[in-house]
Amino acid sequence: MTNLSGGPRVVAVIGAGVIGSGWAARMALAGHEVRWFDPNPNAEPFLQRIVSNAEEAWKGLDWSVATGRPTRSDSLEACVVDADLVIESVPERLEIKRATFAQIEADASPEAVIASSTSGFRPTQLAEGLEHPERLIVAHPFNPVYLLPLVELVAGESTAPDLIGQAKEFYAGVAMKPLVVRKEIDAFIADRLLEAVWREALWLVNDGIATTEDIDDAIRYGFGLRWAQMGLFETYRIAGGDGGMRHFIEQFGEALSWPWTKLMDVPELTDELIEAIATQSDDQSGHFTIAELEAHRDENLVAIMNALAPKRWGAGDTVAENRQR
Ligand SMILES: NC(=O)c1ccc[n+]([C@@H]2O[C@H](COP(=O)([O-])OP(=O)(O)OC[C@H]3O[C@@H](n4cnc5c(N)ncnc54)[C@H](O)[C@@H]3O)[C@@H](O)[C@H]2O)c1
Repeated sequence: MTNLSGGPRVVAVIGAGVIGSGWAARMALAGHEVRWFDPNPNAEPFLQRIVSNAEEAWKGLDWSVATGRPTRSDSLEACVVDADLVIESVPERLEIKRATFAQIEADASPEAVIASSTSGFRPTQLAEGLEHPERLIVAHPFNPVYLLPLVELVAGESTAPDLIGQAKEFYAGVAMKPLVVRKEIDAFIADRLLEAVWREALWLVNDGIATTEDIDDAIRYGFGLRWAQMGLFETYRIAGGDGGMRHFIEQFGEALSWPWTKLMDVPELTDELIEAIATQSDDQSGHFTIAELEAHRDENLVAIMNALAPKRWGAGDTVAENRQR
């Protein structure tokens, strides 16, 4: 199997939607030779927009940008034929993923590593039926992929023992923070957390307690700022005062069994609820195009990441490291 550590690699990106385009941009700006394939004839302008966003963001972070840019392949075969790493970013449907893997195995070198962007399928599930399941891992990124450092790495039952170690090094080399998921579970770490918040938010809208904007305000004016730099546990440790985490749990642990949350129950996504959410979201943000929102988001993220860099705190560590690289 290809050893991912070392110099620039040939990277094939299969599926160039939101995530695939972000991967293609990050890998090319970091100096890898990138090809991409997507059966959608209109995929090119979207990918080009993402690459431009990425260039702007990397400039804002004071990161050096390689000169190569992703090139389109006319077929999956042409895309993967000499690839060292194949990044799968097709829609989140098991049958589409498995059909794509079968094609990759038919056309790529048996040495090529395959990394799936799946948000939830376990690698062992994805690798069923593969001739070389040892070369498959999950490398789960976050949107915008060219800017957010986190990538969750997950091995399946058949993944080669040294592949995660190599992948860690490889993804750190493209200015990412690889987080190895210690046990294979559905939806990994970050999406499990996000699902819990998302479910609760849907209930709050469903029950008429808050609008989409109220919920976003509750996050961005408050705990969202804390989360960006310290996460959850470090934040709660401070919330416990000098008694730290133990005192925090003593004080608030009991509240977990109070009826504050609906957690595992999911509100039925009725036409009415979907309409309410979509209308509120239009009222909140409809005066911006998606491209304008992307630009605002990226500028804000760059500013936050730059602010964290001098102390190398949280994501600032990745920013400072990549400046030195
Ligand atoms: N959107 C997110 O925030 C996010 C975050 C992390 C991971 N993911 C995961 O990334 C993957 C892609 O998600 P996305 O949001 O980019 O979806 P998307 O719908 O934006 O893009 C999917 C792309 O795949 C293309 N495609 C469809 N069938 C194909 C095939 N057979 N071969 C090649 N390309 C094909 C489509 O034309 C489309 O451009 C999913 O597994 C998703 O769970 C998404």
